[in-house]
Amino acid sequence: MAKPKINRFWSTAITLVAIYAFVKWGIPAASREITGMPFPLPVPTTLIFFYMALTLIALFLLVTFSDEFLDEFMAPIKKMLRGGYGKAVRTVILVAIPLIAGWQTYDYLVPRAEMAVSLRIQHPSSNFPKAYEDKTNPFAAPSDAMVKAFVEQAKSGEVAFIEQLDEDISFWMDETGPDHMLEFIATPPMNKFLDALKSGEPDMKTARDALIEKHLVEGRALYAMNCRPCHGDSVAGDGPMADGYKLRPINFTDNGTLETIVEGYTFWRVENGGVGLPLEATPWDSAMPEWKLSLTDDERWKIIMAEYNLAEKTPRIPEKH
Ligand code: HEC
Repeated sequence: MAKPKINRFWSTAITLVAIYAFVKWGIPAASREITGMPFPLPVPTTLIFFYMALTLIALFLLVTFSDEFLDEFMAPIKKMLRGGYGKAVRTVILVAIPLIAGWQTYDYLVPRAEMAVSLRIQHPSSNFPKAYEDKTNPFAAPSDAMVKAFVEQAKSGEVAFIEQLDEDISFWMDETGPDHMLEFIATPPMNKFLDALKSGEPDMKTARDALIEKHLVEGRALYAMNCRPCHGDSVAGDGPMADGYKLRPINFTDNGTLETIVEGYTFWRVENGGVGLPLEATPWDSAMPEWKLSLTDDERWKIIMAEYNLAEKTPRIPEKH
């Protein structure tokens, strides 16, 4: 049985409409299935334009492939123009085409007042677990036990750093041959601690200040390894990758960010990233990664400590509830 043959004019028209429908509605519908999010991801208008331009070029090549194809394509058009389908049909089509084109142009150009886009809630609290609210950073205020353990390590000359720094520190020690490995951190509180260590037993406060310096160095190193590409060296949200995001990585030096939230919130936010945010944080989804997948609790606390320190901000104090 021969395949039912449809005229090349109509197959071209159907292909054009089908491709447009697929790009305009099919892809957003599929995106909803794939991402499981409650809203579709639309295809940008410029991209639709490119797809349709490419489709038109392909169809043009197909239709003009041979005289035979072209004649077949033109046949219904010529027939219509000669009144082959009736004069009424011809009149309707010839009036409709300029009207549609005119209306489209008008619609595109007419100035209109638009509603402001709804504001995104940067710190939605609807799914922020209460238990996090009172969490405090164990590395910013080290316990007596932590300080004592640190003093013991310092006395033995073998202080345990995060493993990510091991290679750098041993390289630095080979190069410089220091008296003590803690000279790696040449800040006033650390120098004071090392002096006290030489002349006997350092007091708790001096040791605690030095330990905080060590945690800051670890936190900064982890920040540089994980967060810098987006949030930047200067913690101002201007890392090399930052420009690629519509919702820019947060500028931590801005007063409306780290300082307005309690430390437990920052911890929760870093833990769960953009995917952990509730609907109020849309329409622009955050590219912030879900750090619980690749960093330990301790690493995240140290980074947060460094982040506040680099931004010269202090966390908001939790209200007693
Ligand atoms: C892929 C880029 C990217 C990386 C890498 C990244 N972030 Fe983000 N981060 C973002 C974006 C984008 C936002 C803004 C989103 C928002 O407001 O929800 C953000 C927001 C944040 C916020 C929220 C601040 C606030 O006031 O709500 C914190 C805290 C944060 N990032 C910490 C970190 C830490 C810590 C790291 C490293 C462990 C890190 N980020 C790495 C992209 C990134």
